[in-house]
Amino acid sequence: MAKRKALVAGNWKMNGSLELVEQLSTKLNGFDGDVEVLVFPPFPLIKSAIDSGLSAGAQTVSENDAGAFTGEVDAKLVAQLGAKYTLVGHSERRAIYGESDSDVANKFAKAQEHGLTPILCVGESESEREQELTEQVVSRQIDAVIVKLGVAALANSVIAYEPVWAIGTGKTASPEQAQAVHKFIRDKITALDSNIAQNLRLLYGGSVNDKNSEQLFAQEDIDGGLIGGASLKPESFESICNSAKGNG
Ligand code: 13P
Repeated sequence: MAKRKALVAGNWKMNGSLELVEQLSTKLNGFDGDVEVLVFPPFPLIKSAIDSGLSAGAQTVSENDAGAFTGEVDAKLVAQLGAKYTLVGHSERRAIYGESDSDVANKFAKAQEHGLTPILCVGESESEREQELTEQVVSRQIDAVIVKLGVAALANSVIAYEPVWAIGTGKTASPEQAQAVHKFIRDKITALDSNIAQNLRLLYGGSVNDKNSEQLFAQEDIDGGLIGGASLKPESFESICNSAKGNG
């Protein structure tokens, strides 16, 4: 069965510059193939990225509409800039800024309300994996959205499996480990709605680089990647995007 259209997204985290926007847009200008490419720069660079021809989204959005929330950015404004996606529930947001599963579900809802496609990030910590809690943790994180919005909400979303122990550590999940969790996620959603599950794109993130991406993306239930550090290096990122070709 044909896989879904591959998606490769660069999460710049709190890095990047106008120079990087320029370098990347030059590199990816004319990138063709059956791969959708996205970047998630810090908020102040989203507009420049879009103006330079890149597809860009936000790394998070507020669960509130515009109002007295100093320092927050609302989904409606992000959509007005021309963004189509936002990350929600990245593990750094959960761990450093205390976002709960329910906060993440609220952000997911707000993103969709304003026409953004949420990329829901899920994944277990190292100790949770050691205790064999991976499936339980990932299930709980996805269920928070399903309980709030129903499974139908997943039709217009992407899920990124990012094991916390693999983020920024150089310790990538093996293609088999990653595939096993992706299959678990797809099977879980298939039990609720097989059509949604079949069309849902599942990305892997965590120390993806231009050496390991091809094997990861070749797995049956891996539809692309969410790339951190390597997305800040235009040549590596281009090469990772190329390695997703033919996997859609
Ligand atoms: P690294 O690719 O740097 O491990 O980061 C992954 C990530 O957190 C992407 O959202």
